[in-house]
Amino acid sequence: MTGRLTFPPDFVWGAATAAYQIEGSTTVDGRGPSIWDTFAHTPGRVLGGDTGDVAAEHYRQFRSDVALMAELGLPAYRFSVSWPRVQPGGRGPANQAGLDHYERLVDELLGHGITPVLTLYHWDLPQELEDLGGWGARDTASRFAEYSRLVAERLGDRVPMWTTLNEPWCAAFLGYASGEHAPGHTDPALALRAAHHLLLAHGLGVEALRAELPAGAQVSVTLNLSAVMPGATSPEATDAVRRIDGLANRLFLDPLFRGHYPADVQRDTSALSDWSFVEDRDLAVISQPLDVLGINYYAPTLVDAGEPKEGPSPWPACEHVRFVDQPGPTTAMGWAIDAQGLRAVVHRLHEEYAPIPLMITENGAAFDDQLAPDGVRDHERISYLRDHLTVVHQAIESGVDLRGYFVWSLLDNFEWAYGYSKRFGIVHVDYPTQRRVWKDSAYWYRQVITTNGIDT
Ligand code: NOJ
Repeated sequence: MTGRLTFPPDFVWGAATAAYQIEGSTTVDGRGPSIWDTFAHTPGRVLGGDTGDVAAEHYRQFRSDVALMAELGLPAYRFSVSWPRVQPGGRGPANQAGLDHYERLVDELLGHGITPVLTLYHWDLPQELEDLGGWGARDTASRFAEYSRLVAERLGDRVPMWTTLNEPWCAAFLGYASGEHAPGHTDPALALRAAHHLLLAHGLGVEALRAELPAGAQVSVTLNLSAVMPGATSPEATDAVRRIDGLANRLFLDPLFRGHYPADVQRDTSALSDWSFVEDRDLAVISQPLDVLGINYYAPTLVDAGEPKEGPSPWPACEHVRFVDQPGPTTAMGWAIDAQGLRAVVHRLHEEYAPIPLMITENGAAFDDQLAPDGVRDHERISYLRDHLTVVHQAIESGVDLRGYFVWSLLDNFEWAYGYSKRFGIVHVDYPTQRRVWKDSAYWYRQVITTNGIDT
């Protein structure tokens, strides 16, 4: 069926980025090294030896990038603050030059009528904190709260929406279990401990933010939630779904919204860890009320019983779980294109974890874009975005409290272990010249924003 879908008048449209993926300028204005600088500079860690040293040069070009956002008609922009710019070693007084930069960025956004949506941690832990144990160390959570306070002190009067962490699952399990992300450890027990300390950091960060921010400022966390589905109809496949759903979703949702860890996950992982890193008051700290839950959604997850891939896995205690390729189209990441997974995720939250307002803080796709003299014809990205926005619209219609949508990403950028080989932007970045070229999806998204709706 074709037709026009109109969104609620106060629906928030935006685009998202993250500091290490776009900023470059990694040694200026007193910035210290982060775990991603170290990791990317370690041979063999990132495809092609790419690093974030230059990236999309956004640190230098932020004014013209904000002008570009204004041309796009973006009402909101989600970005992250780089912790090692604010505290080069992750501790102690603020580096004023680092905060000055974000103040200039925020003022530039506000000057163009764009609402800043600020993420405090998008994976660039100061290296000095990693040297002291990183997210495996409980103290890192307190350091995060101190950093949150410093940023809130400076920007609290003008940033209305704050996110503590982006995708703690990735930070813990890709960073500490599979080693695909910085800091590159392959220790599943350490990853469980890291997950808890990230959640504790979130909770202590919320306390710090609430103490600093004016009334009305919104506080959130962003999770990458998976629609985990069985790849077969067997009790073993059902159990594989339970395990992966436990580690990917409930390990974060339950402490945040119910104040306890899922008993089955603790049981499954008991041979790895006695969970003694969880102290008495921790769950009360972690489960303080939030104003919004951010969801990053890209693809569904299909699992079955079986032997996993060779090599270190991000999934502790899942030795008999295998990930199944879903038939049908995929993006350049190899991820299945299926907006029904997003439907499953938001309905599940609405039914099981309500009442928490939801926001899609990331959704988008990498494709092998070709830059032609007249632009980038990325019709696959447009149809991906349209399909997912159709699901967002349907969810709102059926009563899910879903308040906004941020496309990932504004610009092509450093896609972590894949370096610059994967392009998620709606705006193409020609890295040798740093020229920005609107893809067709950017023109399409501008139309979506101006008309507050999509044609299906
Ligand atoms: C989620 C992460 O937050 C972002 O940094 C990343 O680039 C996208 N997923 C795409 O993989």
